[in-house]
Amino acid sequence: MLVLVGLVLCLAPADALTAFPPKFQVGKLNGDLVVKCNTSEQQVTWTQNGEPEPMAELVAEGQTLTILGLDLPAVGNYSCWAGTVLLDTTYVVVSGTREEGMNVSCQAESYRGSFRCSWTGPRSAVFHARLTRSDGSLGEWVPAAGCCGQFSASFADPSFCPFAEELRPLQLQLEGLSDTSYLNFSTHFFVRDIVRPDPPQELTVQQRGEQLHLAWAPPASWPLPKSYFALLYRLQYELPNGTQVVKYVEGAEETQLQERTRRVRISCQDPYANPTWSPWSTWQDVNAAQQRRLRAH
Ligand SMILES: *[C@@H]1O[C@H](CO)[C@@H](O)[C@H](O)[C@H]1NC(C)=O
Ligand SMILES: *[C@@H]1O[C@H](CO)[C@@H](O)[C@H](O)[C@H]1NC(C)=O
Ligand SMILES: *[C@@H]1O[C@H](CO)[C@@H](O)[C@H](O)[C@H]1NC(C)=O
Ligand SMILES: *[C@@H]1O[C@H](CO)[C@@H](O)[C@H](O)[C@H]1NC(C)=O
Ligand SMILES: *[C@@H]1O[C@H](CO)[C@@H](O)[C@H](O)[C@H]1NC(C)=O
Repeated sequence: MLVLVGLVLCLAPADALTAFPPKFQVGKLNGDLVVKCNTSEQQVTWTQNGEPEPMAELVAEGQTLTILGLDLPAVGNYSCWAGTVLLDTTYVVVSGTREEGMNVSCQAESYRGSFRCSWTGPRSAVFHARLTRSDGSLGEWVPAAGCCGQFSASFADPSFCPFAEELRPLQLQLEGLSDTSYLNFSTHFFVRDIVRPDPPQELTVQQRGEQLHLAWAPPASWPLPKSYFALLYRLQYELPNGTQVVKYVEGAEETQLQERTRRVRISCQDPYANPTWSPWSTWQDVNAAQQRRLRAH
């Protein structure tokens, strides 16, 4: 048992990464890799994952360390030191063998140039991502939040203009480091294809004579003016016998219902872009008193 535990500890490669390291290098499996210590010191010493003994396949010379025949035990955290002073750290990995889709999916709640992307990856990986914006400039790397193989990050493109037609797609580049390997993936999309509005807000139900009058407002995140950023609304209401009925409204933020109704909810869609409906608003109960008054008629 003890022997087994010892073996596992010795074979464990680097400590699991908890954040994207500021500096990393990617080498080919079984290839040689030169790691340079960024310092003006003429002589440095090296540690790998905190271990001072350089392995036989490491050749230290001046400010460089050559890793001969990079293999999995040789990946990890290489630090160079002047005595006890840490000078520089480089995380060494091998290039990833897997390039399969990471199921990247992005969603914007509006045409304001901000959106959120999520993707899958190895459980042990850390990711960062950056955007090539609509004006062609390159954004900063954004660290991704993630747990258990699911990652996500939020982006903003300050150069995005909601009134102009998008002529070229935004480009998203993802870089990931698992304990041992480097993953690189990029994807591109138009904001108009990833917009999914928030639900409409302030849905109110009022009795007016024999009819129910419904009114609502567009989602707070939706841009103005309404004439330019139109929305198609979808109302769902439930009859006393449980049957659910759908009604569409375009170009207005109110409507009437003739039928007796238990409750109602609403969602919306950009009629000119990606045909994805917003989430539903919460159900709005039609006041019991109104129900009685309706029945009395
Ligand atoms: C080397 O260190 C200097 C000073 O800290 C820094 O400005 C520079 O960007 C570093 N170069 C690399 C390649 O890390
Ligand atoms: C690498 O090792 C150095 C020195 O021990 C430490 O400061 C740094 O946090 C380590 N980095 C990673 C990513 O483990
Ligand atoms: C990607 O998504 C598809 C369909 O949603 C699913 O079948 C597939 O397993 C996913 N792949 C990964 C690596 O999660
Ligand atoms: C990652 O991919 C991008 C484009 O897909 C490429 O330009 C870049 O060189 C790659 N980075 C590395 C370290 O391989
Ligand atoms: C529920 O009521 C509506 C209107 O009163 C009626 O058209 C419909 O057939 C009813 N559905 C069921 C399942 O009874």
